[in-house]
Amino acid sequence: MTTTPAQNASDSSRDPKALYGGTSSRRITVRDIAAAKARGEKWPMLTAYDAMTASVFDEAGIPVLLVGDSMGNCHLGYESTVPVTMDEIAVLSAAVVRGTKRALIVADLPFGSYQEGPVQALRSATRLIKETGASAVKLEGGERSAEQIKLLVDAGIPVMAHIGLTPQSVNAFGGYPVQGRGEEAAQQLLRDAKAVQDAGAFSVVLELVPAELAAEVTRTLHIPTVGIGAGSECDAQVLVWTDMAGMTPGRVPRFVKQYAQLREVLGGAARAFAEDVVDGAYPAPEHAFH
Ligand code: KIV
Repeated sequence: MTTTPAQNASDSSRDPKALYGGTSSRRITVRDIAAAKARGEKWPMLTAYDAMTASVFDEAGIPVLLVGDSMGNCHLGYESTVPVTMDEIAVLSAAVVRGTKRALIVADLPFGSYQEGPVQALRSATRLIKETGASAVKLEGGERSAEQIKLLVDAGIPVMAHIGLTPQSVNAFGGYPVQGRGEEAAQQLLRDAKAVQDAGAFSVVLELVPAELAAEVTRTLHIPTVGIGAGSECDAQVLVWTDMAGMTPGRVPRFVKQYAQLREVLGGAARAFAEDVVDGAYPAPEHAFH
């Protein structure tokens, strides 16, 4: 008897080896990721930039954590991802690896660390893998980054590709517009997706592309697509953790769903602490040593 992908997915959700919701205490590998696509099983990915937050996500069962260059905006106080350096990615990736036991950790290659060509990309990726303990790297670009991806994969470094809206090109895009609209742009996105798959990427992030186009890419590829602002048909979904948890100040992009209001909670805790100190209510006798 043959099973449909949907049946496989619901069967695998009861399988302790399933990618998401599994009980295995070993680290997730890129082979698990490939197997999840074959089973038609969807999975979540979050960004993480420090050991403690990463440990929370790891304990919650998030199978893949990205130490994204979004740390520029969300953690380091830059206006974009462009200024993020290799040293910053290396320090925070190592922290995320130390804080986790199960998640597959993907370290982002920052702007300027791979655009010169495959050899520069290999040098940068090798450094991140050796120094941080991350199991994979991510880089932006489709056809234009295919040679870099191929050399990294040949050297034994798993690569997550990233196409559609690639934030490191914010200055060229003049902002963060939806990509792949119109026949020509859609065909280019499909070519980019096939190019990174052919180069050996184990998965590909599709950022800010129309849902119908993301669905077509997902059906066409045998590697998993990881959507962000790319509709519901992708194999996986990623969100920047500070957006997901309501920590980011101000307006968040339309595709974000906030699952908590952490900024309010944390601000409330800080205000309550401040009031207690001013009023002399903290420390109380039970907090003192004698
Ligand atoms: O840096 C990042 O967080 C990313 C995700 C948005 C995919 O590239």
